Amino acid sequence: MSWPRWNYSRYIAHRCGGALAPENTLAGLHLAARLGFRAVEFDVMLSADGAPLLIHDETLERTTDGGGRVAETPLLRLCQLDAGRQHHRAYAGERLPTLQQTLDACRALGLAANIEIKPATGFEAETGTAVGRLIERSAQDWQGVPLLFSSFSETALAAARAAAPALPRALLVEAIPADWRERLQQLECLALHCAARHLQAEQVAEIAAAGYPLACYTVNRPEDAERLFAYGVAAVFTDRLDLFDPLRE
Ligand code: G3P
Ligand code: MG
Repeated sequence: MSWPRWNYSRYIAHRCGGALAPENTLAGLHLAARLGFRAVEFDVMLSADGAPLLIHDETLERTTDGGGRVAETPLLRLCQLDAGRQHHRAYAGERLPTLQQTLDACRALGLAANIEIKPATGFEAETGTAVGRLIERSAQDWQGVPLLFSSFSETALAAARAAAPALPRALLVEAIPADWRERLQQLECLALHCAARHLQAEQVAEIAAAGYPLACYTVNRPEDAERLFAYGVAAVFTDRLDLFDPLRE
């Protein structure tokens, strides 16, 4: 089985719908598609019973009407929570989607998906394995859907590689570490993802010369994106789906 390579759309909708919709929800995913985005990024964590679903924080308070830790809450309970009202009452009733539901939606909408493996502390390997296995189990379903794993956790990425060896991976960092090349080689990564705010033009040139696409988060001003593209950055993650026109690529 061979996986499609990440096609590196230049504009990636951050946490599905960016700032326009509740983060990490199917409502956001649909909005990104309607606005012409061809790639989305979202965060995946495990429920207490080991099911991968979309959420950014280890706790439920900021984005849902629930409370407590995601890793201590069973999937059935997580799926009952309201994950939309805190963003805007127009989104009341929006749910936390499972990874499976999200990938089904990406396939239906023709979206490339950057699956950020976001393990709760202490669940790094378990999360990487569960996400990798889910993809590997249903490999046939994802033909034609460009998928990419990324994570700040090298343990999670290594576990994902063991479970789904052919799926492309990106290492996520804040600032680019001095040993970026060794780390990418160690995990056989396709790409490097880093924070835009620390980035220097010389670093981009060095990474591009080594043949690694570099994607930057979170870029919310079009003029910053243009500067980064001029450096040689391959893609930006943005919350401001209203300010970027991905159809211009
Ligand atoms: O994957 C890029 C970006 O999403 C990483 O930061 O905290 O928004 O998941 P965060
Ligand atoms: Mg993320």
